[in-house]
Amino acid sequence: MTSPLRRPLIAGNWKMHRTVDGSVELARALADTARVGPRTDVVVAPVFTALHAVAKALTGTAIGLAGQHCHWEDQGAFTGEIAPPMLKDVGCAWCLVGHSERRQLFQETDAMVHRKTVALRRHGLRPIVCVGETLAERESGVTFEVLRRQWEGALGGLTGDDARAFVGDVVLAYEPVWAIGTGRTAKASDAQSAHAYLRDRIRNDLGEVADGVRILYGGSVKADNAAELLAQPDVDGLLVGGASLDAAGFARIIQAAG
Ligand code: PGA
Repeated sequence: MTSPLRRPLIAGNWKMHRTVDGSVELARALADTARVGPRTDVVVAPVFTALHAVAKALTGTAIGLAGQHCHWEDQGAFTGEIAPPMLKDVGCAWCLVGHSERRQLFQETDAMVHRKTVALRRHGLRPIVCVGETLAERESGVTFEVLRRQWEGALGGLTGDDARAFVGDVVLAYEPVWAIGTGRTAKASDAQSAHAYLRDRIRNDLGEVADGVRILYGGSVKADNAAELLAQPDVDGLLVGGASLDAAGFARIIQAAG
C-alpha cells in the first residue's frame, strides 16, 4: 500500500534556461495556470540568478523553489559555487543533487553527492538525489548494479538510525540517462521495476522507512505520458526538464498528479 508520506511531488528543472525576466514570466504563468491539488507538492528549479526574483513571484502560491545544484561547504573560497544556506536565504526549500548532467559533464562523484546531501539536510533543505543508468549500462544489463552503487554512494557509509534519518529526508529521482532530453521515455513498466528495485534495496538495508521514501521518475516526461507513469505503484512523482519550460504543459503534468 502506498504510504500517506508519499505525497506526489512534481518538480520542474529549468536547467540553464531563461533570464530573470523570462523566469519570472514563466513562474507567474505557471502559478496562474496550474491547479495544485491539496495532496501534491510542486517545485521549480530556475537558474541561480533568477532564484530571488522567482521566490518573490511565487510567494503565496503552492509552488516551491529548488536549487539545481550546491556545494557542501557553508561558505569559502569556492569560485562559482553556491552554498546550501545561500539557497535557503533566497527562498529554496529543495535542491537537486547528482543530476546526470552534473555527473557526466562536471565530474560530480557519488562521494560529492553524499557530502552535498548531508550539507543540505544540515540546513533543513530537502535533497532530490538523482540516480540512473546510461544506455550502455542498460544494454549490458547492469542497470540495477548502477542504481545500487549510486544509492549506496549517496548514503556514504551511514548505517542504522543515522541512515534511516538520512533516507527519511531525501527524495530520490530515477532518471535513466538515455531518456533525458531525448524524447525517449522509459516504458512505465521499466520505470516501475527500477523504482521497485530501489525501494526493495532500501527496505532490505534499512527496513520500513523505505515505504515512506518518495521516488520520482524523470526523463522525457510530457503531459501525455505523466498519468501512466504516475499510475505505477512505486512512482511517487516526476522530475521534468524540457516540458517544465511550458507553463500550460507543466500545469497538465501537475494535474495528472491529482
Ligand atoms: P527532460 O529532463 O524532461 O528534458 O528529459 C529531465 C531532467 O533532466 O531532469
